[in-house]
Amino acid sequence: MLTYLPLRCLGLKSLVCISFDCGVIGAMAARVKYSWSLALVLLCIVSLSYFGNAADIGASFVFGDSLVDAGNNNYLPTLSKANIPPNGIDFKASGGQPTGRYTNGRTIGDIVGEELGVPNYAVPFLSPNSTGKAILYGVNYASGGGGIMNATGRIFVNRLGLDIQIDFYNTTRKQFDKLLGPSKAKDYIRKSSIFSITIGANDFLNNYLLPVLSIGARISETPDGFIDDMINHLRDQLTRLYQLDARKFVIGNVGPIGCIPYQKTINQLNENECVDLANKLAKQYNSRLQNLLTELNGKLPGATFVVANVYDLVMELITNYEKYGFITASKACCGNGGQFAGIIPCGPTSTMCKDRDKHVFWDPYHPSEAANLIIARQLLYGSTKYISPVNLKQLRNL
Ligand SMILES: *[C@@H]1O[C@H](CO)[C@@H](O)[C@H](O)[C@H]1NC(C)=O
Ligand SMILES: *[C@@H]1O[C@H](CO)[C@@H](O)[C@H](O)[C@H]1NC(C)=O
Ligand SMILES: *[C@@H]1O[C@H](CO)[C@@H](O)[C@H](O)[C@H]1NC(C)=O
Repeated sequence: MLTYLPLRCLGLKSLVCISFDCGVIGAMAARVKYSWSLALVLLCIVSLSYFGNAADIGASFVFGDSLVDAGNNNYLPTLSKANIPPNGIDFKASGGQPTGRYTNGRTIGDIVGEELGVPNYAVPFLSPNSTGKAILYGVNYASGGGGIMNATGRIFVNRLGLDIQIDFYNTTRKQFDKLLGPSKAKDYIRKSSIFSITIGANDFLNNYLLPVLSIGARISETPDGFIDDMINHLRDQLTRLYQLDARKFVIGNVGPIGCIPYQKTINQLNENECVDLANKLAKQYNSRLQNLLTELNGKLPGATFVVANVYDLVMELITNYEKYGFITASKACCGNGGQFAGIIPCGPTSTMCKDRDKHVFWDPYHPSEAANLIIARQLLYGSTKYISPVNLKQLRNL
């Protein structure tokens, strides 16, 4: 108890614990009088739980694409939509109704927020609910079809690219000043809030690698040139977030996009084959991303950039799916077309598997909630193999 309390006190930074160090008081009191020591320890415990909440939970700001969209596209005239059944069928908070999440249950962003103790899922920026105190626990700006490059996802007619997502965060940032006052707002955002960015896959899938539409771009720009553009753009985007007081960042790298049911189906691959070019581009981008984050960790004082190694994590699930209790890592649970149900997105007329937690992929593009849970836990508590230089639990406590 006595060694545990001071650590909690420092972690919580609550008013009472800054003015009295609970551990010291507890240790002194233990030598003085039993009743006093008990009362003081109780006072400390009460203050810890009372001030612990609002002062320390912080906000979770979620940027990215359909992997973490929690409903922004519901409010856009777009061809990329997930607020149709059976999406969300296992999402408890909505009683199984679709919410705009591109999976059967929770996204990685939802699970991470939950495990870090945030009481509500970050509200979608475009939802009418993203006003007042609701935003203090975080806001979700992610949009299905969005990418680092502004042109990415234009086949969907509408989507929020990362530039626009950061413009929206700029609006939220001003709302925080109004809600908390400028000095508290700055502290809350810098010290207690986490900025997660899950983006890049669409820059390949729905831009550079698009059949037919992208042929022009691929002739005029080499993979190296395109990835250079992506990294340079992302550097500016992350720097803008830093200027708006973001300090604790986690950036997902691009997963093995050559292994998703959509790519396997359109390229008519066998069960355990993946599309080489797509995976090669993802790996090339990921290695540049790692260098960029190392650069920014050195260049932007007070910032911590963590890279989530989504590529290796998802590849591990795909390669050793049986070890994790899955029966397939190639066939989408919900979808239609071809041998991996990978052509037509999940919707009311799709066929759906019975055992949704035994499929790595929910639909032609997105992992199931069961896969998201395994991924999220590795990011929260795992080793530097999958999340580095620190895991999300450690980032939270920095
Ligand atoms: C908005 O908040 C209300 C009340 O809390 C809730 O019933 C509703 O589902 C929310 N809507 C969205 C889109 O989150
Ligand atoms: C980005 O795309 C939008 C349309 O989606 C366009 O209105 C805007 O001007 C573009 N921005 C830049 C910087 O190209
Ligand atoms: C945020 O918005 C203000 C205008 O309200 C603008 O002057 C500023 O440059 C923006 N900051 C960033 C980093 O985009």
